[in-house]
Amino acid sequence: MRVLDLFSGCGGFSYGFQEAGFNVVLGIDNVDIALKTFKYNHNNTHTKNVDLSKIDNLQEIVNFLNEKGGVDVIIAGPPCQGFSLTGSRKEDDERNKLFYSVFEIAKMLNKKPKAIIIENVPGLATLYKGKAKEEIERNFKENKYTKQSKILYAPNYGVPQIRKRLFFVGLDEHYGNFKFPDEILSKDEYITCEKAISDLPSLEVTMGDENIDYICEPNSDYQVKMRLNSKKINNHIGTQHTDLVKSVIAQVPEGGNHKDLPKGVGDSRKFNEAWTRYHSQKPSKTIDTGHRNHFHYKYNRVPTVRENARFQSFPDNFKFLGTKTQQYRQVGNAVPPLLGFHIAKQLKKVLDNE
Ligand SMILES: C[S@@+](CC[C@H](N)C(=O)[O-])C[C@H]1O[C@@H](n2cnc3c(N)ncnc32)[C@H](O)[C@@H]1O
Repeated sequence: MRVLDLFSGCGGFSYGFQEAGFNVVLGIDNVDIALKTFKYNHNNTHTKNVDLSKIDNLQEIVNFLNEKGGVDVIIAGPPCQGFSLTGSRKEDDERNKLFYSVFEIAKMLNKKPKAIIIENVPGLATLYKGKAKEEIERNFKENKYTKQSKILYAPNYGVPQIRKRLFFVGLDEHYGNFKFPDEILSKDEYITCEKAISDLPSLEVTMGDENIDYICEPNSDYQVKMRLNSKKINNHIGTQHTDLVKSVIAQVPEGGNHKDLPKGVGDSRKFNEAWTRYHSQKPSKTIDTGHRNHFHYKYNRVPTVRENARFQSFPDNFKFLGTKTQQYRQVGNAVPPLLGFHIAKQLKKVLDNE
């Protein structure tokens, strides 16, 4: 079962598909370093740096895939800035239209893909009075795909992070409707920050390095799963904060933020998520592409790339390439692989029943 990943980033979404037994044949993005990471972590795959906003660029992708016999599934996570509350919300923002390339490619291929999955932020459903969502649905219908959409809450699928994402799943009409995977965990079973990362070195003495040793046995089933096929720890390098930053964060209690600081402390950052310290007994906040405002539940520093990757459910043998800033961006942009895995598993059931 062959998969094309559009707006692939480092490939969190498609890694979940790979884990569920799909063959990810091509990843497309317009950022080289994300594609390098993608290639490094996917078996026998190809990548292409293509600007998907330009319709003239799509033929190259289609020719490549037609030569290889096409694809069964297209997955796509177009950038969410145009839709999200934190980015630009201009209705005419070109980026809002990027999802058209998904349907264009599906139309241009010799063999119609069996399924198309589009992922985005939940805000997409209601923005512009629901027009963006309607447009996506119209395209599914026009191309003869059934369409189901749902907001999935990552902790319900074993991801130790409060992340909500909207998924549209379209199936070629003769497969009928897609049924989203059942939730596997209830609120009192959520994987906590502690269960996710407590085995990773604190970095209180060293700054860490590439290829460092595990210093203890896994402390949870989740850690066992994350460490499978991984002998060393990568992407676990600490950030050198100033004494001032360290002293401010030291005053934030677990689960607290800037509102819990004494008057006059940490005034430089006052917005919603400023000076947020994770709670050891809860999932993490939503991992974003920056790395400045969220802090470790126990140590007075921001989480490392590897800790964020754990919160996103990337296994330790998934390695991020590029500078630290580029690595944080790749992790924060991604669909949690575990979420991708559960969707992929469900899709496989439908397609295997053909
Ligand atoms: C939300 S991220 C996708 C993450 C990916 N689905 C994952 O799970 O790792 C969106 C991606 O779209 C890429 N992108 C943005 N504009 C693009 C364009 N015009 N053409 C191709 N890729 C683009 C970004 O570089 C980014 O990696």
